[in-house]
Amino acid sequence: MSVAQAPAGLVIAVDGPAASGKGTLARRLSAHYRLPYLDTGLLYRMVARAMLDAGHDIRDADAAGRLVLTFDDGAFAEDSLRGREIGEAASVVAAMPAVRSGLIARQRRFAAQPGGAVLDGRDIGTVICPQAPAKLFVTATPEVRAARRHKELAGRGEPATFEGILADIRRRDARDSGRSDAPLRAAEDAVLLDTSALTIDEALAAAIAIVESRKAR
Ligand code: CDP
Repeated sequence: MSVAQAPAGLVIAVDGPAASGKGTLARRLSAHYRLPYLDTGLLYRMVARAMLDAGHDIRDADAAGRLVLTFDDGAFAEDSLRGREIGEAASVVAAMPAVRSGLIARQRRFAAQPGGAVLDGRDIGTVICPQAPAKLFVTATPEVRAARRHKELAGRGEPATFEGILADIRRRDARDSGRSDAPLRAAEDAVLLDTSALTIDEALAAAIAIVESRKAR
């Protein structure tokens, strides 16, 4: 696909539940529009990793609230953040208001770069960048998401049963959607993109069409 010219300040917000395909889509959108990309889930994963490395109980909100202000985001190998256990731990610390507020400024700074940026997460369109012109809410059925995560984890040499991963995904959906601070939900002006039956290329084409329609407004 050709590389498009991004107008000044094009912020693309990509939200959605675990393993919905939002990360792949956001990365491909950032390449297409030549915009910097931030996977905000990694920030929550880093806080979770830092908590576990320091020997804290993952539910210790005071410790997490201190750590979020001091952790070094260059200190973690991405591979050490992508595992199943860290995803689960990230969703626990992500429900803590002190952790969320501690991460807002660096996400907004990233989004404020002159040319714009692509950010993916759970609350980009609702809390981090409510003014973003282009917002996508990427979904897929829990079964499709579990199958994708199953394949991804097997590729990492971290085998797990499909049923176990499906249970993880349902638990994470419930926690992410049910928390009181910045719950997972589509912004009112987000466009829903269900990727259940789409290939990556089809999903990308649909996402570009959505961004183009928003840019034209
Ligand atoms: O890749 P996957 O969708 O499984 O997870 P992720 O995007 O890396 O996010 C891990 C966890 O961080 C999620 O389950 C959320 O609880 C939390 N998160 C969040 O609350 N807000 C964000 N903007 C990004 C992630």
